[in-house]
Amino acid sequence: MRVDIQFIPRHVSAKEAEGKAFVVIDALRASTTIVEALSNGCAEVIPVVTVNGTFNLAEKFPREDTLIGGERGGRKVKGFDLGNSPREYARDVVWGKRLILTTTDGTKAFHMVAASQHVLVGAFTNAHAVAQRCMTLRADPVMVAAGKRGKFSLEDVVCAGMMIDLLERRGVDLTDGARAASILYRSFNGDLLGMARISEHGRSLVRLGFEEDLSFCVQTNISLLVPVFRDGSIRLE
Ligand code: MLT
Repeated sequence: MRVDIQFIPRHVSAKEAEGKAFVVIDALRASTTIVEALSNGCAEVIPVVTVNGTFNLAEKFPREDTLIGGERGGRKVKGFDLGNSPREYARDVVWGKRLILTTTDGTKAFHMVAASQHVLVGAFTNAHAVAQRCMTLRADPVMVAAGKRGKFSLEDVVCAGMMIDLLERRGVDLTDGARAASILYRSFNGDLLGMARISEHGRSLVRLGFEEDLSFCVQTNISLLVPVFRDGSIRLE
């Protein structure tokens, strides 16, 4: 087994995806929000690329079973039920509901690797569970850092590095990119909140008033769940 990383998401064909398992990571905040919603009893999360696509899809489902969530520019979109703060996705809000979610980068990243048989959702909150699942799949893991508008995102690569570090300890081989992410993760020496605070996206979330999301999103291993994206929907298996 060999672990690799995409520092920025790129489209993967079915042929390229053969024998690989992709872990989509948008630590601040989309993948953390998805893990939190499903941990709190949300039935499924449908990641959508555009705001219009979200409204159009919502029309196909009974309104009482469906929540529309996500952000643009970090803020809740007009007409949506929820924004992209994982703290909004509490049990009494999401239990038994379908969530249609669109975010600037995170939800797009799922569609880039949709040709793969194995697409997992990774965050700091479920990092150990994801690494464990990767060990059981007969596939080479590829960490997909969602990035920020096509650019490198510190917190996503550090989160990928945490999972890679766990896999490396199990004797898994690494590409140079994966090794760089693992070294970057270790360089923060356990101060994940400090890392999130200096990251570009972390600073913009603080400016928008979402400082508490940073401490929420850097909690490690509060969830044993590994959501899976298949046939357009993210669920627990
Ligand atoms: C994204 O998908 O770009 C992020 O999750 C943005 C955010 O923090 O809301």
